[in-house]
Amino acid sequence: MKDFENSFSLNVNNHKVSYTDEGKYGAPVIIFIHGFPFNMSMWNPQIESLSNYCRVITYDIRGFGNSDAGNEEFTIELFAKDLISLMDALKIDITILCGLSMGGYIALNAIENYAGRFSALILSDTSCKADTSEAKEKRIKAIENIKNTGVEKYADESIKNLFASESFTGRSDEISAVRAMIVKTRVQSLCNGLIALSMRKETSSILKEIKVPVLILVGNEDKITPPSEAKFIHEKIKNSFLKVLEHAGHLSNMENSEEFNYQLTKFVELVYPQSILPVQIEPD
Ligand code: MLT
Repeated sequence: MKDFENSFSLNVNNHKVSYTDEGKYGAPVIIFIHGFPFNMSMWNPQIESLSNYCRVITYDIRGFGNSDAGNEEFTIELFAKDLISLMDALKIDITILCGLSMGGYIALNAIENYAGRFSALILSDTSCKADTSEAKEKRIKAIENIKNTGVEKYADESIKNLFASESFTGRSDEISAVRAMIVKTRVQSLCNGLIALSMRKETSSILKEIKVPVLILVGNEDKITPPSEAKFIHEKIKNSFLKVLEHAGHLSNMENSEEFNYQLTKFVELVYPQSILPVQIEPD
């Protein structure tokens, strides 16, 4: 996967966070939060497309990619707090937020607790429900499997559920990239991440409080957070738009990046109609 020029790291909330900052200074900011157990490189197709008219930030959640894990227990609340600390450090008062799956759980937690910091939300392939007891058991089993049979096997098992059937023939680069992201993730982060996911609170009850525009995207073959979850969110958020993407499973931004980016662009133009105008020149 392409390495972007503007990759940086800084210390926030007691850990080193790795991030990219691309695009136009002074343009609307959009921050992307990756899913589990991936890293910021999953957003490369969006950086390429959106940095022409937005300032695009991607970052590695603590413990993933090149960000340090820190010493605190992983929780979705902590990840949302890290996001706000990153925004503070980068002096970003308000942003559009886009999260996929776990990134969506974090985005929903962030809008619940720090509503004034977000001008719009994109929820991709995600859910507002907590884990059922069966899902929690599966997470515990996954932790045991990772410890007993290793990360490579875990990655191979995960891949089966992540992609649409047609991606297995047509998207081999994306599949290899995602497999590499999973295998690269530290065992401790995989296990602590699975616990954080299983302990997350539901956010269905706060959806009606969301006042900013929301775009909900989901792959039509998403087996992990299927279109029914997206429809449920859409029905509860008044100011929301739903688009089910063809040719995509759970990783719709990678499997059908063209349509994903088109929907994102249309949405950003709706939220910031001025964003296609020339933007400020970066100061020296
Ligand atoms: C993700 O992509 O972030 C995970 O599938 C989320 C989950 O397992 O709940």
